[in-house]
Amino acid sequence: MDLPNPPANPHYARLGGQDAVVRLVDAFYRAMDELPQARDIRAMHEADLGPTRRLLTRYLSEWMGGPRLYTPDRGPPKLRRRHMPFAIDAAARDAWMDCMRLALAQTCADAGLRAELEAAFAKVAEALRNTHAGAAAQVASPGAMSA
Ligand code: HEM
Repeated sequence: MDLPNPPANPHYARLGGQDAVVRLVDAFYRAMDELPQARDIRAMHEADLGPTRRLLTRYLSEWMGGPRLYTPDRGPPKLRRRHMPFAIDAAARDAWMDCMRLALAQTCADAGLRAELEAAFAKVAEALRNTHAGAAAQVASPGAMSA
């Protein structure tokens, strides 16, 4: 018996395709430049956000079920490993989410979709936390990396 194809992740199309992903990512990094609570996470990034903006756009396109623009270029996302050089505590996680929540509010009119995306982003952001509040900034050794 033929199994049906797994349903495609529909978020990309629901958001509005590539232009909408670009708008979301632009709004996200604008928020990172502007929100006072994002100062510390902004400082983790390069002065020129252009290359990072491009990477997040390509990653989110793929993550939301659109064209696979990230993996063929960068390899498997392994986001936890890629974020290990940065000390991400609860405040950093929350600041990242504040930027994303504002960006979604500015670029996604569909409240239901916004809520779904916020919940999904929150799970990823929590999974990337690698430092506990109050602990000294740490750089994990490669042995501590998870896939
Ligand atoms: C939890 C708080 C987070 C902090 C503090 C953070 C910080 C960073 C930093 C500093 C970089 C490096 C940028 C550069 O090299 O210019 C980065 C890269 C990246 N981040 Fe995050 N991030 C967070 C959460 C997330 C989440 C939730 C996602 C995805 C939903 C994400 C996706 C990415 C991607 C795709 C890259 C590029 C990876 C690559 O090099 O290919 N980040 N992040």
